[in-house]
Amino acid sequence: MLGNFSYCNPTRLYFGEDSLENLGGELAKYGSNVLLVYGGGSIKKSGLYDQVINILKKEKKAVFEVSGVMPNPTVEKLYEACKIAKENNVDLILAVGGGSCCDFAKAVSVSAWCQEDPWEKYYLRMEDVDNKIIPVGCVLTMVGTGSEMNGGAVITNHESKLKIGHVFGENVFPKFSILNPKLTYTLPKYQMVAGFYDILNHITEQYFSGEDDCTSDYIMEGLMKSLIHSSRIAVQNPYDYEARSNIMWIATWALNTLVAKGKTTDWMVHMIGQSVGAYTDATHGMTLSAVSMAYYRHIMPYGLPKFKRYAINVWDVNPEGSSDEEIAAEGLARMENWMREIGLVMNIRELGVTEDMLEGIADGAFIMTGGYKELTHDEIVEILKESM
Ligand code: NZQ
Ligand code: ZN
Repeated sequence: MLGNFSYCNPTRLYFGEDSLENLGGELAKYGSNVLLVYGGGSIKKSGLYDQVINILKKEKKAVFEVSGVMPNPTVEKLYEACKIAKENNVDLILAVGGGSCCDFAKAVSVSAWCQEDPWEKYYLRMEDVDNKIIPVGCVLTMVGTGSEMNGGAVITNHESKLKIGHVFGENVFPKFSILNPKLTYTLPKYQMVAGFYDILNHITEQYFSGEDDCTSDYIMEGLMKSLIHSSRIAVQNPYDYEARSNIMWIATWALNTLVAKGKTTDWMVHMIGQSVGAYTDATHGMTLSAVSMAYYRHIMPYGLPKFKRYAINVWDVNPEGSSDEEIAAEGLARMENWMREIGLVMNIRELGVTEDMLEGIADGAFIMTGGYKELTHDEIVEILKESM
């Protein structure tokens, strides 16, 4: 049965190969001071930086820059950007890049005018925002996180070895996001497929929970089938516009809050993966792929009917003559084959994890209660060992 909920997604999306044409119109809605946030240089190489600067100039904006936003943005970087945002009284933060830039922009948006240490307030104490929020806009260049249309902002603290996501409310969602699939063409294959798995895992995190006949589960099965289909095409030909645009759109729907409405969710792969990320600084999607098979095989017996449904509806397993366990296991086997086929990292050793880190990684993985099995610390260690 669907639970009670309210649904509103305030982000305006501009989708398609001409979507950057809408940036000027959006910029015109805000004051003159813009903080441009971008990563390690991919947008300069691709020419997107020059295009965006030209549009900003045309709109007569004073532009302040924070460059070098790293994958898995750090708390030190956050403090640096907050100072610039506050000193220059910025009216809009414009993120041009992947999920890290979009997440980072949201973190700056709520932290610049925060009276306390934002790491402690938002990430350790998980408190709501009660200060001025600077509006955020995004031009997305990497597909996967869904950050372009949600309130998530993940920050890493290397000193305490914690990578934590705060899911902020609708007032922190980007005001607008520009999604041009062609801007993702320059992504290295490693990043591209890591993003594909991030999408699949966002969906499975929300799918493998609850027993009800939930509309969201049917939507998610469709999204997963479309993703699996298009990912195979994109891996063969990264310039296939149809495949890349479908995947971009699936990524947004996978984590723009809609499919989670009225149902419970799991998120345990992300909790373990994020802790792996805190120790290794590895690419987000790969931290998820590397622990997923051990996790899903571990919880399968506790959610057998759903794993059977997943095998049949998503992976086209023929149920005839097989037990429920066999059907479910075949579904996971097909999932693993697809993961290997598209080139994902399938073990955490490859990401830099060593045996002496396992206890610490398990300690840093927050235990969620919405999945089919509430894990103990020892079970997380076991899953990590199996993922080596
Ligand atoms: O920094 P640059 O030079 O731009 O290079 C980036 C970066 O090295 C590169 N890249 C991005 N677009 C490119 C490109 N290179 C060439 N051409 C392009 N078009 O790709 C690398 C990775 O970028 P990043 O933004 O870090 O990747 P992603 O989009 O996967 O974001 C990862 C971050 O998002 C968080 C993750 O934890 C991680 O910190 N997440 C945010 C979520 C949310 N807001 O809801 C949910 C996710 O589960 C995730 O946790
Ligand atoms: Zn993710």
